[in-house]
Amino acid sequence: MRQAPSAEDQFDEQASRRLESIYLTPDVVAQRAQVMALLQPRPGQHALDIGCGPGLTTQALAEAVGESGHVLGVDIAAPMLTLAGHRCASMKQVRFELCDVNALPCADASMDLALASQVYEYVDTIDAALVELARVLRPGGRAVLVDTDWESAVWASHDDARMRRVLESWNEHIPHPQLPRTLKRRMEQAGFEAVTATVVPLLNASYDRQTYSVGMMDMIGNFVVGRNGLSADDVAAWKADAATIGAENGYFFSLSRYVFIGQRR
Ligand SMILES: C[S@@+](CC[C@H](N)C(=O)[O-])C[C@H]1O[C@@H](n2cnc3c(N)ncnc32)[C@H](O)[C@@H]1O
Repeated sequence: MRQAPSAEDQFDEQASRRLESIYLTPDVVAQRAQVMALLQPRPGQHALDIGCGPGLTTQALAEAVGESGHVLGVDIAAPMLTLAGHRCASMKQVRFELCDVNALPCADASMDLALASQVYEYVDTIDAALVELARVLRPGGRAVLVDTDWESAVWASHDDARMRRVLESWNEHIPHPQLPRTLKRRMEQAGFEAVTATVVPLLNASYDRQTYSVGMMDMIGNFVVGRNGLSADDVAAWKADAATIGAENGYFFSLSRYVFIGQRR
């Protein structure tokens, strides 16, 4: 398996805007609401949004903690922070900083809660990064980590072998494509207790550009061309097949997001 590209390389201006529009589709909006319900932010709390991306989660956190609270959004990709800054411009309780998750710009034990949605799977130095996360949370403070295992994907196709090659190649976009399998143990080793895991499914039962899976096909397609023998023609055929299955009323995509909640010891 080739080394995954860095997050800065993956999230240039165009990719950041593309991801923002995908994260605004109704299925992803509903999923975000489920994660926020698990996080249970309260007015007045100090919250950290790690790898905040376009600021959708930051905005939700800021609404929940209110003006008596504070939200710090951090990300390593400057184009993401530009989008996030625009989104939250009118919210006085929000601040953003460009940084790596390995060096959070926060004092020890200064945060009540932290959210990292689809972030740690991108981080090579995952165990050190979790220790850094534990450092900034106060004892009893809560961390909510959301990550994906693409082997949980069920994606209808007329060519299952090609679909498998596409998904195996897509796994190469991050250093930890199966992070949920080890995350509970890693969190406990980093200083968290009472770690629980739950699953938030994402289901698309029709071919619709306003869904996560159809929206992701360009991003996945661009990434996998040239990997594991996949040509541009293979990828074009893979995309066309999804539309064909959709026209046959057979489109089906399901993916699990795993949510881990831990308390700082
Ligand atoms: C898939 S996006 C998720 C964005 C956001 N959390 C959400 O759910 O809407 C992953 C984000 O993590 C950020 N990221 C990845 N590695 C990072 C690192 N080492 N330090 C800080 N941010 C990182 C990326 O730049 C990107 O914005």
